[in-house]
Amino acid sequence: PTNEAEVEVFSVPSYACQRRTTLENRNTVLTDALSLLAENAELSAEEGRGVAFRRAAAVLKVLPEPVTDMTQLKGLPCLGEHSLRVIKDILENGASSEVESTKQSERFKALKVLTGVFGVGAKTADRWIREGIHDLQQLKDSRQTLNRAQRAGLEHYDDINQPVSKAEADAIGEIVEEAVASVLPGAQVTLIGGFRRGKLTGHDVDFLITHPEEGREVGLMPKIVSWLESQGFLLYQKTIRNSYLESDDGPARPCSNMDRFERCFSVFKLAEDEKRRAGQTQSHHASAEDGGLKPWRAVRVDLVVSPISQFAFALLGWTGSKLFERELRRWAGHEKTMSLSSHALYDNTQRTYLRATSEEEIFAHLGLDYIPPSERNA
Ligand code: GTP
Ligand code: MN
Ligand code: MN
Repeated sequence: PTNEAEVEVFSVPSYACQRRTTLENRNTVLTDALSLLAENAELSAEEGRGVAFRRAAAVLKVLPEPVTDMTQLKGLPCLGEHSLRVIKDILENGASSEVESTKQSERFKALKVLTGVFGVGAKTADRWIREGIHDLQQLKDSRQTLNRAQRAGLEHYDDINQPVSKAEADAIGEIVEEAVASVLPGAQVTLIGGFRRGKLTGHDVDFLITHPEEGREVGLMPKIVSWLESQGFLLYQKTIRNSYLESDDGPARPCSNMDRFERCFSVFKLAEDEKRRAGQTQSHHASAEDGGLKPWRAVRVDLVVSPISQFAFALLGWTGSKLFERELRRWAGHEKTMSLSSHALYDNTQRTYLRATSEEEIFAHLGLDYIPPSERNA
């Protein structure tokens, strides 16, 4: 559609779960800017502002053409005053002064470096910054006591902050398949998270594990972890069995919308030859032969076990993106008076749980068109 000035005017539904968001993005300059402001807000404990920037970026991600004129944005949802100001600045001046000054700020740089340590959240990073710690050397020199996750995070900092390739994800997948087949034949492993959405790289690799016979999955995670440990595949692991979120900053606290699945947050030791075995021929890393570099890398891996009765909800809930998930729950609550989690869908009007054995059925219960994983990249 065009308006009188002959510039294309876009129309977009307001919830990200009503839209098809592929990895193709014609507005990366704008979405990168808004994402950086979202990240800064999230790192500064301003979650509401973070979500607002994420929603604005997600709207721009589905536009079929690059935005060239502010008039094209008229009537689009989720573009608040602040986001519009940033977009206008970029369209008129080539860059946003707020984004540029955020990028340059010592506080943002320090928050990024410190939260790049696995096991360090925004709260811990903020406390360290207030104590004068701004980089890894200062952290190492300080007398801060680090927990086990943070010690592993510091030790494997460079590897963990290097993106994981699809080939590496596939190699990890083969190891996890072997572990699962060894401890519970018939159990199934599904790649979830960003790689299921078709991303070519990720910050970690995520897997969902289940068994077709309800109940057989009970007690599975410790067995998988023991097998992986015995084979030398784990540099770090922490298994969580209950519904409590353990924080780095204090005692475990209940968190009602967190899920109750057995989960394992781990750091894998992926050998170069495991990668080759999985069919990768070239590597971005120098190989061991080219100069004494270690012949393996550390990779963050998340494992989740679900009973088959909840599998569809777990699959939908762990495939992401984070914003897509948040929007699904908001749609369920605000538009359908339902409550969606990674375990179930509850209809608050009929006071009944709605069963589903596939993601398609869950979208149908929610009155939404089915969106495949590759189009959930909001
Ligand atoms: P990259 O790993 O950066 O490539 O992106 P990703 O989309 O895979 O992100 P991530 O691995 O952080 O999370 C994968 C999915 O799991 C996302 O949809 C998250 O919403 C979901 N997720 C992460 N942590 C939790 C959690 O504690 N509970 C639930 N229910 N979901 C979670
Ligand atoms: Mn992931
Ligand atoms: Mn993950």
